[in-house]
Amino acid sequence: MGVLDAAQLNAYERDGYLVVEDFVSTDACRAMVERSHEIVSAFDPDEHRSVFTTEEQERTSDEYFLSSGDKTRFFFEPEAFLPDGTLRQAKELGLDQARYATWHAINKLGHAMHDTDPVMRSFSRTSELASVASEVGLVDPLLLQSMYIFKNPRIGGEVTCHQDSTFLYTDPLTCTGFWFALEDATLENGCLWAIPGGHRSGLRKKFVRNVDVTDLDSNQAGTHFEVFGEDISGDGAVPLEARAGTLVVLNGLVPHLSGANRSDKSRHAYSLHVIDAGAEYPANNWLQRPTEFPLTGF
Ligand code: FE2
Repeated sequence: MGVLDAAQLNAYERDGYLVVEDFVSTDACRAMVERSHEIVSAFDPDEHRSVFTTEEQERTSDEYFLSSGDKTRFFFEPEAFLPDGTLRQAKELGLDQARYATWHAINKLGHAMHDTDPVMRSFSRTSELASVASEVGLVDPLLLQSMYIFKNPRIGGEVTCHQDSTFLYTDPLTCTGFWFALEDATLENGCLWAIPGGHRSGLRKKFVRNVDVTDLDSNQAGTHFEVFGEDISGDGAVPLEARAGTLVVLNGLVPHLSGANRSDKSRHAYSLHVIDAGAEYPANNWLQRPTEFPLTGF
């Protein structure tokens, strides 16, 4: 017997997304949150100051971002820094810079914790999730990419409306997102929003490297969008408020977004993107895996 029933599968087919409450335990969520703090606590914010924003990624793509496909890397909120490079809120609040970065200025970790971190690896590889992946149509799943998203209080940035297949393209399209609320996601702290049925309107654009990269050491930085259609505004999106432990399954074509977090509560989430091994993974996708560290399934 599967994890999802016929009504859930029909809803996924109809809407392009599915909200599954109580999919993971609060203990599992807590273990992930604690692990995220450990990882960030061990990070020196002076090591690298890469910023993540969906709007600016084309301009700000750098080697640190482009070579994160097999690593755990740290991306800051766009509003994290003052022009002189100090952490804005740390200065305003009179906090130690390094400690401040740990708790408040990081946007996300990316993009291979499902392979590089033991706690996130086991969170990502459960029999229940493998079953859901199979039930929504992934025949030979490969765990491609993971993100630990902090959406920290007051500074957590918005994610503009997009389709995940723009960033994780395969031919045919197989990208499927598994988004986990590790803390309660509400209207106030920047929950997900999605456009019901929006997965039927085709892929609007593709985020690719400027040069096909077969030699990852060649450091061919730079990316652009190949545009096939109009941008999606987010009109018609509905909020997907989610208690901690909720799984949201997202078809790679369904347009979705999340608001900024101006509240005083964080909104930690973990997302895992899975593709099918039977589909072609182009050499100009921004995200590449070195051949010595191949993708694997559940
Ligand atoms: Fe997304």
